[in-house]
Amino acid sequence: MPKERPLWRGAAFRLCVLSAALLLCLQLAVRRSWCPEERPRLPAVAASGRAVPQTRGTAAAPGRRRVTYVRSGRRGGRPGRKTARWHIELQPWASPTPSLNYEALRFLKYISTSQISCEHMNLSSLRGNSEAMKRPWSVCLDERFSLIHRLRNKQCRLYSLGLGNDDNQFEISMANSGCEVHRFDPSIKSAHIQEGQHLWYHRLSVDWRDPNPAIAAHKLHSNTKKLGTILNEFGHQKIDVLKADVESAEWKILENLILEDVVEQIGQLVFEVHIHWPGFEVSGNDSTVVRYWYSLLRELELKDFRLFHTYKDLSKPQMLLKKEAFNASSCYTLSWVNTRWK
Ligand SMILES: *[C@@H]1O[C@H](CO)[C@@H](O)[C@H](O)[C@H]1NC(C)=O
Ligand SMILES: *[C@@H]1O[C@H](CO)[C@@H](O)[C@H](O)[C@H]1NC(C)=O
Ligand SMILES: *[C@@H]1O[C@H](CO)[C@@H](O)[C@H](O)[C@H]1NC(C)=O
Repeated sequence: MPKERPLWRGAAFRLCVLSAALLLCLQLAVRRSWCPEERPRLPAVAASGRAVPQTRGTAAAPGRRRVTYVRSGRRGGRPGRKTARWHIELQPWASPTPSLNYEALRFLKYISTSQISCEHMNLSSLRGNSEAMKRPWSVCLDERFSLIHRLRNKQCRLYSLGLGNDDNQFEISMANSGCEVHRFDPSIKSAHIQEGQHLWYHRLSVDWRDPNPAIAAHKLHSNTKKLGTILNEFGHQKIDVLKADVESAEWKILENLILEDVVEQIGQLVFEVHIHWPGFEVSGNDSTVVRYWYSLLRELELKDFRLFHTYKDLSKPQMLLKKEAFNASSCYTLSWVNTRWK
């Protein structure tokens, strides 16, 4: 039967194609749930801690894109936690054609302008604490925010991130005002030291990622963790004040706090920011870097943080990304209050 064979073959062929298509569909569906769809469009500034190669699409799609993925190993215990993101949302460029000049002007104006006024910013006004507070570390003690009430009720908690040898006046004053103070400093001698009733030192440095366990095992003295991890391990739900003076690691740490929603557990932020170079693991050309800094701070604003104090350090080199043209200082201290925080 010469006519029947091609017929049978045709049917088998069609069946084959159909099952192949089905398989492909299945495979695609599985992969889709694992991968962020638009990986190649990641911005120049890598959010995942790796340098990401620059692609064409970046300038044309100014950061309105939001790549999300569902984490498999989500941390438990935090109610209402949203899905984590790969990277922050980049703001549009400050000008139609990217230029360092416009980016710098926008950024410097932003960090020099308070968004909310705060009347009581130092601790010397508190009863029983006559020590003069050293500016620029300012917290907001206005009655409408919870910090002053939590200080009075001795419920306050301060986390301070530093890298040794800076002065501890702020921490000591906060401790004397009744705040539980945890100072994280990798340079101290033992793992935990208690100094006075309310002041603890921990030999830990806060990073934007957890360390590779293989490396951590070899280097006994380098104990590096993400802030969210430390909070979990200490069993702390909230931090009233987070102070950070971490020599340019603040950008990636801040990014990590935003991406993992840890920032929502913090009442006030007091950060020293450094702008004489891009900062650890921040990459891209100068305008890209400044746009990234600006976008990070706008993310804070989106989460209802308001800048109430800004301090330009005139004692440090006056430069932005190694340039003196902008009359900027390499170092600013910025204080925000989380207006959503209770
Ligand atoms: C910097 O990089 C961005 C992104 O690749 C690009 O669009 C922009 O033109 C560059 N800016 C300058 C001033 O070279
Ligand atoms: C503390 O704040 C008050 C106003 O609230 C101000 O008059 C005083 O000079 C400040 N003290 C220090 C040491 O900054
Ligand atoms: C540079 O900054 C200082 C301090 O903020 C300010 O007093 C000065 O007027 C500025 N100079 C120029 C040329 O803008």
